[in-house]
Amino acid sequence: MDSPVTPLISSFKIILFVSLAMICRPLPASSLANCRSFCGNIPINYPFGVDDGCGAPQFRHMLNCSSDLFFITPSGSYKVQSIDYNKKTMVVYDPAMSTCSILQPHHDFIMTDLQSVIIPPTPDTVFALLNCSIDSPVLNHYKNLCFNFSGHSCDELYGGCNAFRLFHLLTNSTPACCFTSYDTVKFMKMNILDCTHYTTVINTDGLKGIGPSDWVYGIKLSFSVAETGCARCSLSGGTCGYDTETEGMLCLCSSSTNATRECAAGSVTAGGMQMQSTYLHALVVVLGAAALTLSARL
Ligand SMILES: *[C@@H]1O[C@H](CO)[C@@H](O)[C@H](O)[C@H]1NC(C)=O
Ligand SMILES: *[C@@H]1O[C@H](CO)[C@@H](O)[C@H](O)[C@H]1NC(C)=O
Ligand SMILES: *[C@@H]1O[C@H](CO)[C@@H](O)[C@H](O)[C@H]1NC(C)=O
Ligand SMILES: *[C@@H]1O[C@H](CO)[C@@H](O)[C@H](O)[C@H]1NC(C)=O
Repeated sequence: MDSPVTPLISSFKIILFVSLAMICRPLPASSLANCRSFCGNIPINYPFGVDDGCGAPQFRHMLNCSSDLFFITPSGSYKVQSIDYNKKTMVVYDPAMSTCSILQPHHDFIMTDLQSVIIPPTPDTVFALLNCSIDSPVLNHYKNLCFNFSGHSCDELYGGCNAFRLFHLLTNSTPACCFTSYDTVKFMKMNILDCTHYTTVINTDGLKGIGPSDWVYGIKLSFSVAETGCARCSLSGGTCGYDTETEGMLCLCSSSTNATRECAAGSVTAGGMQMQSTYLHALVVVLGAAALTLSARL
């Protein structure tokens, strides 16, 4: 009676041993450590990257994660307030612009040609040009570039909060202003526009009946991502990146492996934990079956 069962038990022991050895095999040391996935509390996902070689190459050098996350353009570093990966928008804040609480002399907002195409300001971001001279193009030849948004006029802005009231107080009149879109400041610098200050307001579609002290000041950018096969790389457990020399897409699989499109089957990377637990689950099923077989035989 012992003879048929003993080999079964020993093979069972072998299976158990091998399985345990496989479960306990060390995971590759924090494989994708060179692509940070957060900067402070802001998640960094494709197409963005804060480490060179991570994300999409078109967005290279656009973000800097020093203490906080900054969006870099030729005119400066703008603090990133939030990134919405579903709506594909990023809200940034120009620390040098005027708002309801502070007046600061004008400062151009300049993006590279590439940035203007792949991450331009959204249509519901309004640029308010303030204290424009009577010779300003937006009061003359280009006055059709100015509009009132959600029922608001520039006059309301001058009267609406402390910082902007200064314009009234100093001149005893109402200096001209213009609510306009990014395209205006893209094609005309502040010096040409001849306005001394500017501010920007986001989510302007929802501001009907809401006064300037409750507006949200900032710049909302809308980013687009070309379909380069990142989904396939992510599904295989990799992180999308690029070759820092050629800027060709790379699927970063582990600290020691990069693939052109996807990580090889069974390679243990960011998805490693998940694969291990799937394996564990399968093992429990196998052992359960083995135990059942064993008890049936006994
Ligand atoms: C993989 O690509 C990243 C990003 O370009 C690079 O930093 C890293 O050295 C590469 N690793 C290997 C093993 O080629
Ligand atoms: C990021 O910002 C820090 C501090 O301002 C600076 O030292 C560093 O050079 C910047 N890096 C890039 C890539 O711009
Ligand atoms: C904006 O509103 C002001 C005050 O209500 C008005 O005088 C002005 O004509 C309006 N401008 C446009 C472009 O509609
Ligand atoms: C408004 O603009 C004029 C020049 O057009 C300038 O002299 C004045 O200082 C500006 N007002 C403020 C509050 O900066």
